Formats: sequence, structure tokens, C-alpha cells
Amino acid sequence: MDEVSFVRNRKVILDRIDWRVAPHDHWVVLGANGSGKTTLLQILAGYLWPSRGRVTVLGERFGETDLRELRRKIGWVGSFLGAQFPPNQRPLDLIVSGRFASLGIYEQPREEDYARARDLAGRLGCDSVLDSPYTVLSQGEKQRLLIARALVHDPRLLILDEPCAGLDLVAREQLLRTLVDLGSQGNGPAMILVTHHLEEIMPVFENVLLLENGRCLARGPKEQVLTSELLGRAFGIPVRISRNGDRYWAWME
Ligand SMILES: Nc1ncnc2c1ncn2[C@@H]1O[C@H](COP(=O)(O)OP(=O)(O)O)[C@@H](O)[C@H]1O
Ligand SMILES: [Mg+2]
Repeated sequence: MDEVSFVRNRKVILDRIDWRVAPHDHWVVLGANGSGKTTLLQILAGYLWPSRGRVTVLGERFGETDLRELRRKIGWVGSFLGAQFPPNQRPLDLIVSGRFASLGIYEQPREEDYARARDLAGRLGCDSVLDSPYTVLSQGEKQRLLIARALVHDPRLLILDEPCAGLDLVAREQLLRTLVDLGSQGNGPAMILVTHHLEEIMPVFENVLLLENGRCLARGPKEQVLTSELLGRAFGIPVRISRNGDRYWAWME
């Protein structure tokens, strides 16, 4: 992103963001509620058009490329996205639908699509729930299905917008380990994770972009960005940060 701004109703939601994500780098985006994180990701995924600035994703410059083609290479996992799916949809169909939603055309799924969905469900540890109705699943199981759905078309960029929201301790750790596994594969997608909790920044996420009111307050290696001073500025209160091994956490005095 070069000098990307996004303005709605005369409100500056993103203000001249410069950001570069290298092909296999994994980033965390941090910032208070309303600081512009989701808007930034929606621009990256081609769902919102920036008011100013240039965006190039996976080598494709926006404005010169077919966004529908580009979206096929991007997986999206939101928080509580599940509410939008038909309640009686089979989990296996939900995973397979990722392929067709991203293609934007109606096609009959093939046997190999289902085989791939089963394989992904196994890798993500949600193959035991494939025969249950989606509505009865726990939030953790739903989130794993949604990650499988996002991965079904082999994206090169995986965007995770607060995927751990609403998960209990165990479900969250399992989901984070899934991300570590994904991120450690040399040929896996680059990942961008939005979170409010520093302890969710697993070692594979080496870089942090810190937003404050639509502006980039800091970006770069997490050791440089996750400081009491910068986070205190981002949240407008004194924040203490501590590190235990390779995990971080933060608290208020
Ligand atoms: N379509 C829109 N029209 C007007 N304001 C919006 C729109 N989308 C988001 N906003 C505002 O932009 C700000 C940033 O929103 P968002 O990107 O969702 O923040 P975050 O994900 O960091 O919580 C918020 O103040 C929000 O109310
Ligand atoms: Mg958001």
C-alpha cells in the first residue's frame, strides 16, 4: 500500500497508510476499536476501494486487474462470520462453498472438491464434526470450519479478522496452533491477523502494524513495535507489556 487513505462521510478512516508485506511474511494488525483495521483489510481483499493511494496485492495493481480473480487468491476469516451461513448447511458443503463463493459463479462441486474439503478438515482438526448441523457446533469448531473454507481454494494471502473472538482458552490455543502450522509451511499463504490480545501473537507472526485513529503509528518487527510506549499511545492509556518466552501480554497499571 502506498499512501492509502479511505474517507467516508468526510471522516478520514484511513490516513496515508504505507505498508509492504513480503510474500511469506506474517503480520499482526493491532489498534483500538474503530482504528481502521477491518477497513484496511477490506481494501486489501478488494472489497473497498481506497479514496486515495495505490494498492498492489500479490503483484496485481488495483485498477488494472480483475478483482474477482484476485479475490480467489485471498482467504478471509472473520469473527462470527458464521451467522451468515444457512443453518442447515452441512459443514462439508460449507467448506466446499469457499471455492465457489470465491469464483463467483455457480458450479456443481466435484468429488475432488469434497475430498479436498475432508482433507483440510482433518488438518484443521474439525473432521469429527462434518456430519453435525452447523448451528449446533461450538464457536471453536465453527472457526476451524471457516478457516478450512478460506483455505479450500489455496489462497496465497490469508486474512484473519479477530478469528479468536468468542473462543474459550483451549479452542483459542488450538486455533493459534493451527495458524502456527499453516505459517510454518514454506508454501503456505502469507497471513494477516487482527487481534486485540498480544498473547495471540504467536512466534510465526514476526511483524506488527499498529494503527491509531486510521494512522500508522508503527510497523515492523514485533520486538520494535510491541513496546509500552507505542501501545500506550495507540490506546491512549499507560500500558505495560511483558514477555514470557516467545509470547507477549499487556495490561493496564
Ligand atoms: N462504511 C462506513 N461508513 C462510515 N464509517 C465507517 C464505515 N466503515 C467503517 N466506518 C468507521 O470507520 C472507523 C474504523 O472502522 P473499522 O475499520 O471497522 O475499525 P476496527 O476494525 O479497527 O475496529 C470506525 O469509526 C467506523 O465507525
Ligand atoms: Mg474490526
